[in-house]
Amino acid sequence: MTQRKGIILAGGSGTRLYPITMGISKQLLPVYDKPMIYYPLSAIMLAGIREIAIITTPEDQAQFQRLMGDGSQWGLDFTWITQPSPDGLAQAYLLAEEFLAGSPSLMVLGDNIFFGHGLPEMLARADAQGMGGTVFGYRVADPERYGVVDFDDQGRVRAIIEKPSVPPSNYAVTGLYCLDGTAPQKAATISPSPRGELEITTLLELYLSEGALRVETMGRGYAWLDTGTHESLLDAGNFVRTLEQRQGLQIGSPDEIAFSQGWIDATGLDKRISLFGKNAYGAFLKGLVT
Ligand code: TTP
Repeated sequence: MTQRKGIILAGGSGTRLYPITMGISKQLLPVYDKPMIYYPLSAIMLAGIREIAIITTPEDQAQFQRLMGDGSQWGLDFTWITQPSPDGLAQAYLLAEEFLAGSPSLMVLGDNIFFGHGLPEMLARADAQGMGGTVFGYRVADPERYGVVDFDDQGRVRAIIEKPSVPPSNYAVTGLYCLDGTAPQKAATISPSPRGELEITTLLELYLSEGALRVETMGRGYAWLDTGTHESLLDAGNFVRTLEQRQGLQIGSPDEIAFSQGWIDATGLDKRISLFGKNAYGAFLKGLVT
C-alpha cells in the first residue's frame, strides 16, 4: 500500500469569531502558547505522516508560510494549496487530488484539537485498515451542532446526519478523516448542498453506501476541542494551559514530536530552541535534548 499522506484544511471564513478573524485566519490565532494550526499538525505527525498538504485561503497563505515554511525544520515536506472560496470540506479532496496522486490520506480540520493517551495507536489502527474510510466519533453534550452518528443494534454505522434536530446518538463526527485513495474520485461526484458546499457528510455517505465506512469512538480519556467560537477558543486555551502547567509537558508541539520520531536530531532541535530561548516552550524543548 502506498504511504498515507496528510491534509490540513485551514481555510474557511471564521465568521463566528468576527471581528477577530476579519484580519487574520482563525487557524493562526493562539491557543494558549501556540498557533492553533500546531495542534492539528501534531495529530497528523503522531500518525507518522511526513508529507502534508496545507490548504488555506489565498489571502492567508503567505502568513502561514511565514510561520511554518516548507516543514524541513521538523523533517516534514509541506505542499501549499489554496482554496479560492470556502466551498466545503469535501472540496479539499479535489484541491489535493494531484498532491495525493492516488494515496490514502488523513485529513484534519485546522481548528480541531485532539488530545489523549493512545492517540498514535488509534490512528495506526485506522491507517492499517487500508481500503475504505475511518472517522472518529466523540461523545458530546450538544450533538445537534455536529454531524452525528446513527448506530444500528450491532453498533455499526447506519447513517451520519448533519446537525439533526433530534440526534440519533450523542456521538459527533470529529474533524479527522482517514480515507482511502478513492476520496478525490468520490468527491468529484458530489453536488453542492443547499448551503452551496461540498459536504463531507455526503462524501462519507458514499463510503457508507459501499459498506466501507468505520466509526471508531474515542473514549472518555480523550479530549476533542473545537475552537470555532469565542467561548470554545478560550476554553481550549485554558485546557492547554492547565495541563501543561500541571504536568510540565507540552500539548501539540511539532518540535517535540519531530524529535521523538527521529525526524530531526539534537542539532535540528537546538536550532529551534535558539528561537524560543527566553520562554517556557524553549525551556521544555531544552529539557528534551539534555
Ligand atoms: P467551520 O468552522 O465550519 O467554518 P469556518 O472556519 O469558516 O467558521 P465559521 O463557521 O465561523 O464561519 O470550518 C471548520 C474547519 O474547516 C475550519 O478549520 C475551517 C475549515 N474550512 C475550510 O478550510 N474550507 C471550507 O470550505 C470550510 C467550510 C471550512
